[in-house]
Amino acid sequence: MTSRMKLHLMLLLVAAVTAVVEAQQFTFSSPTPTPVTQQTLQQVAASLQLYADPLPQMPIVYGFSTEGGNPVSTNLTIGMYPTNWKFHQDLPPTPVFVYGTSAETATFPGPTIIARHGVPLYVKWENHLPDLHLLPTDNTISVANSTMGGVPTVVHLHGSVHPPQSDGSAFAWFTRDYKEVGPKWTQTTYMYPNIQPPGNLWYHDHALGLTRVNLLAGLLGAYIIEKPEVDDPMDLPSGEDDDLHLIIADRSFNSDGTLYLNSTGNVPSIHPQWQPEYFGEAITVNGKAWPFLNVARRRYRFRILNASNARYLNLSLSNGLPFYVIGSDASYLAAPVETQTILLSPAELADVVVDFSNSTTPCAELLNSAPYPYPTGAATTGTLLSKVMIFHINDIKVFDNSTIPEKEVDYANVTMPEPSTTTRYIVMYEYTTPSGGVTHLFINGLRLEDPVTETPKADSTELWHVINLTPDNHPLHVHLGMMQAINVTEIVGYQQFFNCMTQLNDSVKCNVTDHAIGKTLPIPEYEKTWKNVVKIEPGYMTSVVVAFKIVDTNQSYPFDSTAEPGYVYHCHVSSSVLIYIYTNTLLFYIGPARLVVFELKKVRNY
Ligand SMILES: *[C@@H]1O[C@H](CO)[C@@H](O)[C@H](O)[C@H]1NC(C)=O
Ligand SMILES: *[C@@H]1O[C@H](CO)[C@@H](O)[C@H](O)[C@H]1NC(C)=O
Ligand SMILES: *[C@@H]1O[C@H](CO)[C@@H](O)[C@H](O)[C@H]1NC(C)=O
Ligand SMILES: *[C@@H]1O[C@H](CO)[C@@H](O)[C@H](O)[C@H]1NC(C)=O
Ligand SMILES: *[C@@H]1O[C@H](CO)[C@@H](O)[C@H](O)[C@H]1NC(C)=O
Ligand SMILES: *[C@@H]1O[C@H](CO)[C@@H](O)[C@H](O)[C@H]1NC(C)=O
Ligand SMILES: *[C@@H]1O[C@H](CO)[C@@H](O)[C@H](O)[C@H]1NC(C)=O
Ligand SMILES: *[C@@H]1O[C@H](CO)[C@@H](O)[C@H](O)[C@H]1NC(C)=O
Ligand SMILES: *[C@@H]1O[C@H](CO)[C@@H](O)[C@H](O)[C@H]1NC(C)=O
Ligand SMILES: *[C@@H]1O[C@H](CO)[C@@H](O)[C@H](O)[C@H]1NC(C)=O
Ligand SMILES: *[C@@H]1O[C@H](CO)[C@@H](O)[C@H](O)[C@H]1NC(C)=O
Ligand SMILES: *[C@@H]1O[C@H](CO)[C@@H](O)[C@H](O)[C@H]1NC(C)=O
Repeated sequence: MTSRMKLHLMLLLVAAVTAVVEAQQFTFSSPTPTPVTQQTLQQVAASLQLYADPLPQMPIVYGFSTEGGNPVSTNLTIGMYPTNWKFHQDLPPTPVFVYGTSAETATFPGPTIIARHGVPLYVKWENHLPDLHLLPTDNTISVANSTMGGVPTVVHLHGSVHPPQSDGSAFAWFTRDYKEVGPKWTQTTYMYPNIQPPGNLWYHDHALGLTRVNLLAGLLGAYIIEKPEVDDPMDLPSGEDDDLHLIIADRSFNSDGTLYLNSTGNVPSIHPQWQPEYFGEAITVNGKAWPFLNVARRRYRFRILNASNARYLNLSLSNGLPFYVIGSDASYLAAPVETQTILLSPAELADVVVDFSNSTTPCAELLNSAPYPYPTGAATTGTLLSKVMIFHINDIKVFDNSTIPEKEVDYANVTMPEPSTTTRYIVMYEYTTPSGGVTHLFINGLRLEDPVTETPKADSTELWHVINLTPDNHPLHVHLGMMQAINVTEIVGYQQFFNCMTQLNDSVKCNVTDHAIGKTLPIPEYEKTWKNVVKIEPGYMTSVVVAFKIVDTNQSYPFDSTAEPGYVYHCHVSSSVLIYIYTNTLLFYIGPARLVVFELKKVRNY
């Protein structure tokens, strides 16, 4: 061996040792000896016996207490803890970061918080996480930088109407014991007024540039706003055994049980680690891979939350039973919608009733047929990714006085607003390397640090035309406002419009009204109510009514929605888990005098 070869060998060894040390920084256990490939991840997933673990339900934490029979405000403390979670009987315990009222009770996902309409809830969010993250992170995206060690975190209650100081601004992050805080951090305790229509929310991490990894690590949980005057007359299934969450999340596991996240970016010369989307090889529900649930022959309410980073779900039941969709992510429908399939984007929730009483089969698999990325990516059909969980249906018919109501809640119907309505064009497009690798995603060509461009007024309703020029469907999420899509129209002359937009960044100058003239897509009946996530179809203009007020009562916010640090809107592909969540972020921020200013946040590719 020449000395030159020896030198090379030594350098290789040094590199290997460095790689091992680096890998160790991110995992609690020793590194996997063989290189991880998609095939090895698929093998680990395939080694997990289907439908072996029972479906757990997360602990319930009440967001109110009672005094003399009346609900009153309460204060909770919820922490983020490092712990080990068993995702499957055949998989070693997985190091995760999760929420709980204590280290011992922390779960993946975190506890379900049940709040009461009109009763404010105070939550002190505490960070008990270690110095190092358990997943690889990337400093080349806009990221919360802690210089003293610790994992930056901040909590956003998704879908909630609350003051900006409690919104979980990406810049209001904090590390363990608030040792270090982000530039917009103001307080340890958040206030949730619970003044919006009853419905389904969820809480999750929202730290700048880390949302995707913090969510992947397990920082998410469900939140319900109950309003007995509205909920009870419908006689929906409402007991502990028949009103259940199904929180679906895809994850990839190494054979030692650790979570896998690719530590190499898709364009590593620009972003060494970041990739625009994350797709896991195993489907978990309530923290178990492919679980089972024993059900009686009766009706069940399932609040199905897609907490994946980027995977869309097109759900159906294998024995042909329909879903009766009773609510969207944010509110009840006017009446249940019977459907065989439901399409859920990441971060979207469907509230459904399933009636097992007349099932002709002893079991029903919950199946997923959405390609990934949605809608033009790889097919799931025939793979493990087409399976979610199974229901084993008992023989015995049980007493069931719940109903699928004929009528639910008739919120005012949304129609195309008058021409005088404030109208905005919001265009999402990706930038790629010459070979097609995605490097970042912008909204109207603007970056996070660019000045505020949108200033909706509190109490107003606006029309947003959201145009998706990327190849993938993107879930749009606006903080504070509630939304309904009213029109989905194809962009004609796509390439010309795209070329113009990437140069001028201005839809009007690019003659958008000459392009948004193609075929229209129907809006599913089960989405015709107030929502907090709207799917934005690629190649189409989706017109969305956005209300900055309490939608059921038409009242103003009882707090100053114009205060710092404002709110954001963004796309919720988090696996991008949420990487991207902040990616297309428009921060809307509040300037003087009750103006909600959208600070155009860009979409940095986090
Ligand atoms: C709950 O927290 C809020 C905000 O920190 C505080 O003002 C209030 O006094 C607390 N209430 C109780 C009962 O501790
Ligand atoms: C975070 O730190 C890295 C490395 O010091 C730096 O490259 C990056 O610009 C910083 N990002 C932000 C948003 O401060
Ligand atoms: C990780 O990303 C790199 C770069 O995109 C890719 O070549 C590799 O196949 C990925 N690994 C897995 C396991 O997906
Ligand atoms: C679930 O949400 C994740 C992102 O949060 C998304 O990637 C995935 O496609 C969604 N799946 C379904 C079925 O909606
Ligand atoms: C969902 O899957 C069904 C078949 O199971 C298919 O007919 C339907 O078109 C799919 N929906 C979407 C939105 O892809
Ligand atoms: C189930 O069967 C009973 C009796 O055969 C019938 O009355 C009822 O309508 C059926 N329910 C559903 C949901 O099909
Ligand atoms: C249904 O039955 C249960 C148990 O008997 C009872 O507590 C509940 O009030 C009943 N609900 C309705 C809507 O009748
Ligand atoms: C909304 O429209 C439906 C029919 O499309 C109608 O039945 C309902 O009464 C309307 N609701 C309101 C509040 O106007
Ligand atoms: C459009 O946006 C891109 C990306 O931010 C920028 O490089 C370009 O200068 C912008 N063009 C105009 C005309 O503003
Ligand atoms: C949807 O938008 C298209 C194109 O602007 C328009 O022709 C159509 O009338 C709109 N439909 C509704 C229901 O507003
Ligand atoms: C927009 O339309 C006007 C009027 O037809 C035309 O003069 C202009 O060149 C068009 N702009 C672009 C970017 O195509
Ligand atoms: C809602 O309130 C606004 C004033 O904030 C008023 O102009 C509008 O007419 C109200 N709408 C309804 C449906 O009551």
